[in-house]
Amino acid sequence: MDRRLRVGVVGGRRGLTLARECQMVGMEVVAICDLDRARLSSASSALGAVPYQDYDAFLAHDMDGVILANFFDAHAPLAIKALKAGKHVMSETAACKTVAEGVQLLRTVEQTGGVYLFAANYPFKPHARELRRLYQAGEVGTFQYGECEYLHGFSPDYLTHFGQEPRHWRSRVSSLAYCTHSITPVMYVTDTLPTEVSAFVIPSDSSPESLDAARRGRGIAAVMLIRMDTGAFLKSLHGFLQGEQEPETSWIRIHGSRGLIENLRHGDSRRVRVRKEEWTTQSGQVEDTVRDLVWDRGDDALVCESFARAMQTGEPPYFDVYRGVIASLVGICGLRSLLRGSVPVAIPDLRQEDVRHEYESDDWNGLEGPPK
Ligand SMILES: NC(=O)c1ccc[n+]([C@@H]2O[C@H](COP(=O)([O-])OP(=O)(O)OC[C@H]3O[C@@H](n4cnc5c(N)ncnc54)[C@H](O)[C@@H]3O)[C@@H](O)[C@H]2O)c1
Repeated sequence: MDRRLRVGVVGGRRGLTLARECQMVGMEVVAICDLDRARLSSASSALGAVPYQDYDAFLAHDMDGVILANFFDAHAPLAIKALKAGKHVMSETAACKTVAEGVQLLRTVEQTGGVYLFAANYPFKPHARELRRLYQAGEVGTFQYGECEYLHGFSPDYLTHFGQEPRHWRSRVSSLAYCTHSITPVMYVTDTLPTEVSAFVIPSDSSPESLDAARRGRGIAAVMLIRMDTGAFLKSLHGFLQGEQEPETSWIRIHGSRGLIENLRHGDSRRVRVRKEEWTTQSGQVEDTVRDLVWDRGDDALVCESFARAMQTGEPPYFDVYRGVIASLVGICGLRSLLRGSVPVAIPDLRQEDVRHEYESDDWNGLEGPPK
């Protein structure tokens, strides 16, 4: 394709950041859509893009792809409509809020032949890319057990913001829903997929109200024990506990059959540690090394570049619709697990048509905990 790719963006907050990244990597941002008039007006002037409040009118704009950065639990219907209108889609997480939506999204991508890129950016943080390089080079053998975290140590005052708008998605979705920042880096490093989840929500305190809210999916953070398709186990923790990593709010540890790789929890979280036991080294000595990484590219730029590449070549991106839906199902099946007393719940492998049949009418909203 000789001409510059043209994209439009839905949502003028996170969407504005992604739109700027698209411009920086050489795409033209031609249209922006937001329901909120004030946000639309400032974002359209900042980008020099045509403003739309109506999504159907926006989709009629001449462009190659759309970037969905609307509400967290409302991406699938907009993605399906865009694909049917002949546009490629890059969608923020979550990909779907029900298993049925996941089935519909997968089928639409297959039927239309459009590109679908799940905008997981945490796998493309510098430490996660280095951990992938080390793992794929066989430095620590095969993945047996891993841990991953995505934490923000917000103050109680800051957290009350979320409660002030009870219908906003940040107040509405369960503490389990936003699991993709912790788990997608491990999927990427090890090329594995989640198949089963047991989930727990941590109450913010011991009051009866907090304990009850946590049983319904609302707490300060969430823990999940996830079985991967190789039989390896992954413990994931995400939420608002104190002890945020800096500068990247992400920690990953992979125990392999021959050693350990992780990024550091103390100091610069981009530093990567490799530990090899003495029985695996040529010297016969333990090798435990830490190295600094040279920052090269931002994760959002890499995600936008891979969207451009996929649109140009038709090659599916790493986080395609299958990985995007499966990662989103971890939050949905996690809530199901929690509500059943944290029992393990299978994550349906929607790549299989017979499994899709079984789940195509499962329209239970797995991102929102039940009200009292
Ligand atoms: N990957 C990251 O690091 C990262 C960071 C922030 C947000 N996000 C994701 O981006 C998405 C948006 O987050 P946010 O913080 O910008 O949310 P937000 O609620 O602040 O903004 C969403 C915007 O979308 C608009 N919108 C909603 N529905 C629309 C529709 N049907 N048509 C047009 N406009 C619509 C809203 O008016 C609002 O301005 C979420 O899925 C969030 O998880 C990702």
